Amino acid sequence: MDSSSIRPALIGLSGRLMLLTLGFIMLAEVLILLPAVANFRNNWLTDRIAAAQTAALVLEAAPPEAISDRLIAQVLDSVDAHSISMKIGGVRRLLATTDVPPSLSGDYDIRTAGMVTAIAASFQTMFSQGDSLIRVRGPAPMGGEFIDVVMNEQPLRLTMWRFAGNFLILSLLISSIAGALVYASLSALIVKPVKRLADSISSFGHEAEHGRTVIIPSGRRDELGIAEQKLAEMQKALKKELKQREHLASLGLAVAKINHDLRNLLSSAHLLSDRIASVPDPTVQRLAPKLIRALDRAVGFCQATLAFGKAQELPPTPRKFELATLVTDVRDLLALDEDAPIRFLVDIPEPMQINADPEQLLRVLLNLSRNAIEAMLTHQGKGDLMIRARRHSGSIDIEVADTGPGVPAEGRERLFQPFSGSNRVGSTGLGLAIAADLMRVQGGTIALVDSPGGACFRVTLPA
Ligand SMILES: Nc1ncnc2c1ncn2[C@@H]1O[C@H](COP(=O)(O)OP(=O)(O)O)[C@@H](O)[C@H]1O
Ligand SMILES: [Mg+2]
Repeated sequence: MDSSSIRPALIGLSGRLMLLTLGFIMLAEVLILLPAVANFRNNWLTDRIAAAQTAALVLEAAPPEAISDRLIAQVLDSVDAHSISMKIGGVRRLLATTDVPPSLSGDYDIRTAGMVTAIAASFQTMFSQGDSLIRVRGPAPMGGEFIDVVMNEQPLRLTMWRFAGNFLILSLLISSIAGALVYASLSALIVKPVKRLADSISSFGHEAEHGRTVIIPSGRRDELGIAEQKLAEMQKALKKELKQREHLASLGLAVAKINHDLRNLLSSAHLLSDRIASVPDPTVQRLAPKLIRALDRAVGFCQATLAFGKAQELPPTPRKFELATLVTDVRDLLALDEDAPIRFLVDIPEPMQINADPEQLLRVLLNLSRNAIEAMLTHQGKGDLMIRARRHSGSIDIEVADTGPGVPAEGRERLFQPFSGSNRVGSTGLGLAIAADLMRVQGGTIALVDSPGGACFRVTLPA
């Protein structure tokens, strides 16, 4: 998929994590809120019971003639209660009342209530409506069994809502701070480095012209640091590879151009040699046909390579031919006359029909022969070049042997790989690589074989 088709999300990674943190903390706070509200309610009621106990003590201690309706009203008002009753020694005593309590909407005993009951009661209180009355029972003073306070539920409800509201505001504050801290640390620790990685990857892909930039690892030692390190290594390798490819591509173009114009020049040479062939001189008459055939070959070769347009060798077009004829062609192309310093020897025992691509085999033998002649000429200035052939049950061996210095020991294992030639001027190290390629496409092999004086290369063709 094209990377540009991915639209970045509206809320990035850190934003999402911040919202999640906020959500999770809020959830935890709500879970804490329920028991907290229940506890708050319990404390509030306990305070009321304590106030009622004090009021009961006051009324108990006062002389009966001093207890007026006004005092009762004052006492009840101070506790904010409707009535207070107490049970002492099996007798229930109504200590004070303004009027007969109407029906009650709740009845709670704070002495026995567990957490679950308390939470349920809290819900009941918070979601009750209007100004109904509840009765709350608690421990009584002076060895009494219990004390009952009937009171309005509304004040309790209001304070509980206030408490819950404050609690939620505080929770929101805490979770916002935590979320912001998570956001800040995540962006610094993870999101920024990840973004740097992503930016480096995408810019590396786009910067073809102005040299691709490799990420510089920040040196951190965690997983992201390792990722940076690996990315840098990968980008370096890729950069090298791409450079090599660009180099090869331009090389290929150069070769095609050379090939194209070379063919034109060869065609001109061909025309000229056609005209030379009409000169009646006997030497010219002997050499001209060879020259023309050599130029024909060269033009044909250029044309075929250009048409194929690839660095690989063309697939072979095998046909039956006489090996001795091909070897004569090789000799002609090498221009080795009787008086040349190199003697050209042929050892083909019988008429030998071969089924192969003659042009390709000729190029192989020509490459091997040229190497041998070059080696002998530079070393001794003379020598023998021998081409010999032997037929075996399933194959034919053709050897090109010389009496030169032999192949130098160093670089022997890379002999058939491209650009592995010697340092001598004009050496490309391509000749043997081409020969090996040509043999491979024909299903044959090429090898350097041990030989006492000089070098010997053997090509083997399937019969
Ligand atoms: N017959 C030979 N005798 C000595 N050295 C040889 C012979 N053939 C090949 N070599 C060595 O192998 C190298 C590679 O040969 P080749 O692939 O044809 O490349 P090039 O001829 O361009 O150097 C030569 O440079 C030479 O050192
Ligand atoms: Mg060569």
